[in-house]
Amino acid sequence: MRKNIVIANWKMNTLLEEGMILFEESLRLLKEAKLMDTEVVFCVPYTHLFALGGSLNETHDDLEVYLGAQDCSANTHGAFTGEVSAAQVADAGASFVIIGHSERRKYHNEQSPILINKIDECFANLLNVIYCVGETSEQRQAGKHKETVKKQLEEVAFIYNDNEIQNFIIAYEPVWAIGSQTPATPDDAEEMHAFIRTLLINRYGNEIAERIQIIYGGSCTSNNAATIMAMPNVDGGLIGGASLLAEEFFAIIQTAALVP
Ligand code: PGA
Repeated sequence: MRKNIVIANWKMNTLLEEGMILFEESLRLLKEAKLMDTEVVFCVPYTHLFALGGSLNETHDDLEVYLGAQDCSANTHGAFTGEVSAAQVADAGASFVIIGHSERRKYHNEQSPILINKIDECFANLLNVIYCVGETSEQRQAGKHKETVKKQLEEVAFIYNDNEIQNFIIAYEPVWAIGSQTPATPDDAEEMHAFIRTLLINRYGNEIAERIQIIYGGSCTSNNAATIMAMPNVDGGLIGGASLLAEEFFAIIQTAALVP
């Protein structure tokens, strides 16, 4: 069966020293609680990856804790000032990369072709992909939320083959729920997650579709994680603001460890 996975998205927050303290405190809580059955990924600023990788190696034990980046370049290497390649991200210690976050789609106008190039780069460097999908409030109000998510999956994730798709985690993040303190209701989240599962079944068959983790993101906190993650097709969370406090993030991971 699928394990639950909880992923921190620190976004553009913390200087290195703060990040080290937050990371070490989060690891300490995880170790003490011996939460072995839940995967945890910290998607941190590029500038932190290498240093945090060092402390991860020291304290790792049997915990399933990994580092991730929040993006990578669509190009392999060369004259792309300011870009960070997937190879560099992997070299710095990451094993996951967030691709297609709505903030990248919105502020950097990232559309399907560029996302595909980024994913190709990730796979060439053996990185797992956390692929974000989700509708805006206008799309939901117009009743187009499922259509929007279907398109985001079909244009990008579903071009990959049976083996490649298994290196994806799908993150459903309704844009209106991100940083808004208004998460989706558990029923609305489950409706979309079940829809995504059905699309996966239609494209890849039952066995593969059942293995793929579909996680929820958007104002997920320790107050609402239990009811959202208890839903049958919700396999964990992508946590922004609430991952910046070690106790709060740990409480969400504990919740994920308790629900099936
Ligand atoms: P949030 O962000 O938890 O602060 O809403 C989630 C995300 O954007 O990944």
